[in-house]
Amino acid sequence: MNYQNLIVEFKAKTAVVTINRPDKLNALNKLTMEELYSVFSMLKNDGNIYVVILTGAGEKAFVAGADISELNQLDMIAGREFSERGQQVFNLIENLDKPVIAAVNGFALGGGCELSLACHIRIASQNAKFGQPEVNLGIIPGYGGTQRLTRLINSGRAMELILTGDMIDANEALRIGLVNHVYPQNELMDKALEMANKISSKAVPAVRLAVKSVNIVDEVSSKEGQLYEAAMFALCCGTEDFKEGTKAFLEKRKPEFKNK
Ligand code: COA
Repeated sequence: MNYQNLIVEFKAKTAVVTINRPDKLNALNKLTMEELYSVFSMLKNDGNIYVVILTGAGEKAFVAGADISELNQLDMIAGREFSERGQQVFNLIENLDKPVIAAVNGFALGGGCELSLACHIRIASQNAKFGQPEVNLGIIPGYGGTQRLTRLINSGRAMELILTGDMIDANEALRIGLVNHVYPQNELMDKALEMANKISSKAVPAVRLAVKSVNIVDEVSSKEGQLYEAAMFALCCGTEDFKEGTKAFLEKRKPEFKNK
């Protein structure tokens, strides 16, 4: 399928999705959001893809936010639809069941920071900058950012970022747990692919059920979460890969997973 604002490449078991509007710092306009929905719907059902990497075109930005020229046209009714549709797109990414790694290669502001938060793992280049500058525009984060940022980092720090609109650099993002690793820009994609390949080499059913189990943490109580974990654990025990993984360990050899 052809996309106007996305580049989709396949590298072994990994799909690399690049948001491609570098002249607008990869700002998320309506078309880009709909293309993201379309590509992630396709990837969800593609049995040959185990991991997805999301990044931005060019060397300056991951995504510099929602497209402000479109934001400027919103009224109250359209604003609610805008926010709800954006939440649906980002929820699709979060609930893909396949790991999604954000390779943050520059500005991740507003909707861009929120997009990285919808991914399961964030790694960044040294020039990356994160922020929720919506308050400068008279709005608040509307693509899940008030919720996901507050759950990921401490709530006082999230509140400060959302209320001041300040940007933080990659090292500060690392310090507060917003990203897992920081690399020189020219190494970022290799590192993302390295992580994707490592995850792809594991038992795929276990990886997917782990994503589901971790994702549910904010939805339910700890007791309900543990019931869910036990159900996912039981599903793992019904897979061929579980038999192979444990058998291979006992036979002192590498497992040959069939992803079944
Ligand atoms: N929406 C629409 N266009 C955007 C954009 C956005 N969120 N962010 C950047 N752009 C466009 C600029 O308008 C400019 O377009 P032009 O060349 O046609 O004028 C182009 O991208 C380059 O941006 P520019 O501002 O010239 O780059 P810079 O290096 O001087 O500044 C930023 C970079 C990220 C600091 C600045 O672009 C910015 O503050 N962007 C908006 C960030 C934001 O508020 N995001 C949240 C939106 S909810």
